[in-house]
Amino acid sequence: MPFMRRWAETGSWLLRHEQGKGIGTLMRQAVLAFAVDELGAEVMESGGMVGNQASLAVSRKLGYVPNGYRRHVHADGVGWRDVEMYLLAPGDLVRAPYPVVVTGAAAFRASIGLPS
Ligand SMILES: CC(C)(COP(=O)(O)OP(=O)(O)OC[C@H]1O[C@@H](n2cnc3c(N)ncnc32)[C@H](O)[C@@H]1OP(=O)(O)O)[C@@H](O)C(=O)NCCC(=O)NCCS
Repeated sequence: MPFMRRWAETGSWLLRHEQGKGIGTLMRQAVLAFAVDELGAEVMESGGMVGNQASLAVSRKLGYVPNGYRRHVHADGVGWRDVEMYLLAPGDLVRAPYPVVVTGAAAFRASIGLPS
């Protein structure tokens, strides 16, 4: 079996007209519950550009704790932006209001080389 870091990173992007309706929160909860329950993730990481209040608010309300900053240099090599980093432990994941029900996990695990 391959070495597993059990470390999950998320990033999400919604069309502008779908933002601010709670969808990003539900999306992240679904992915995190899947990572913990089905893939055995032990640490989950997320980052949001400083000032990206919606992204950072989703992290905070789902139980992440702040984990410092990372500096991202733009592709042109000139500019940069600071990213606020967050970490989440499985037991701190806020799962309300909906349970996440996963189907087909065994087939997915097999497709990426994990034991069933
Ligand atoms: C980031 C993103 C995925 C979040 O999804 P979303 O559906 O818009 O977020 P939600 O509606 O679930 O939650 C947003 C939260 O941010 C809060 N928020 C939004 N703007 C805020 C502001 N200016 N100040 C404080 N809080 C703010 C909202 O109040 C809400 O929290 P609440 O439910 O406790 O009230 C989505 O906005 C998006 O795709 N943005 C553009 C791409 C992007 O920035 N992706 C992240 C890259 S790091």
